Amino acid sequence: MPQLARRMGRAKQSAIMLVAERARQLKAQGRDIISFSIGVPNFLPGPHVYAAAREALERDSGQYGSNRGADALLDAFLGHLEAAGLTGYTRANCATGIGAKHVLFNLCEALLDPGDGFAFATPYWTSYLDIGELLGADIQLLPCPPEQDYKLVPAQLDAALARKPRVFLFNNPSNPTGMVYTREEIAALAEVVARHPDTWVITDDIYHRMVFDGVGYHNFLHLRPDLRDRVIFVDSLSKTYGMPGWRTGFMAGPEVVAKALTALNSTHITNVPEVVTAAAVAALSGPQDVPQAQCEGFARRRDQVLEMLAQIPGVVCPRPQGAFYVFPDISVAFGRTHAPTGLRIGSDVELCNALLEAKGVACVPGSAFGEPRALRISYTCPEAQLAPGLQRFREFFAELA
Ligand SMILES: Cc1ncc(COP(=O)(O)O)c(C=O)c1O
Repeated sequence: MPQLARRMGRAKQSAIMLVAERARQLKAQGRDIISFSIGVPNFLPGPHVYAAAREALERDSGQYGSNRGADALLDAFLGHLEAAGLTGYTRANCATGIGAKHVLFNLCEALLDPGDGFAFATPYWTSYLDIGELLGADIQLLPCPPEQDYKLVPAQLDAALARKPRVFLFNNPSNPTGMVYTREEIAALAEVVARHPDTWVITDDIYHRMVFDGVGYHNFLHLRPDLRDRVIFVDSLSKTYGMPGWRTGFMAGPEVVAKALTALNSTHITNVPEVVTAAAVAALSGPQDVPQAQCEGFARRRDQVLEMLAQIPGVVCPRPQGAFYVFPDISVAFGRTHAPTGLRIGSDVELCNALLEAKGVACVPGSAFGEPRALRISYTCPEAQLAPGLQRFREFFAELA
């Protein structure tokens, strides 16, 4: 049999999807499973989004569309950018894709040659590593342990950018930690970015409407608009509007970058489909109360999860202020045994497996995000499952000997 391309040796299936798949299998076998694994919102978009999709079906052209994105979609995205305080862009600064994941892949393909430096913080969203490895980039991880609240500090970024990576990818609010940078923290990091002109900066801000406790959303460009010629903002409909399956993502940045993505779209996907485009326009320009209300709900759930974790001796968790994830350090369990099942816990992966087998609770091991002392809890499960899931989680730790 002929061989696959060499690069496929570096291609992995998403670790998060693997956990979700195992939980699905157990459920199919009749097990009572509560999933804290996959990061999808627990709400659907408003009725105006479905109305727009139906209407688009009625007048469907059935044709190929624009590689960059339909004008109406770009204009709606420009409005969304303005609402985020990012002004002065035109359609020529923007491009669309099949979700932010696709946009990020395209950006990396457009900006990184094999061997080029690709820097980002650990814990990271799994796909950053997967994309960088697939493209043969020189991945430069910047460790941000729980002791520094999982956040980059200016001196660390300064040292990293001194190595002149081609791309620095920044995620705020963070998946998997839920941490959010304050205005002061962003200002300090922006000053560092400004001192290193050889590096492109991608800001993956897809959770920027999900910020709690009045911290607010801040981008390097709010503090240093002069960085506009090399900062690229990425966003998506998935989390904000409850539309992960609709697959629409965006970027705004220098024209040359948007043009490169348009060229890649012409090779990879041609266009975001017409009906999806109509739904996306409706979500971006329609009533914004759905994401707002959800955000308040998520803050309450975050409190509930933290309250439970605080009852487990030795589990440490920096307080997340955005997205819908909590990322506790659970290394206190390592070297212990789950008494009722006899399962030994030597690592985050073994802990997540034992938790799933013993209690039917699915979490993602921290090593999937480059931090093997932790695990990720995504708290977007149905409301009725949250409290029982948290109780089972606490019981599991209480049963460790
Ligand atoms: C930080 C981050 N960036 C990008 C994405 C991709 O989102 P999309 O559904 O738009 O591809 C995700 C999805 O989980 C994410 O957590």
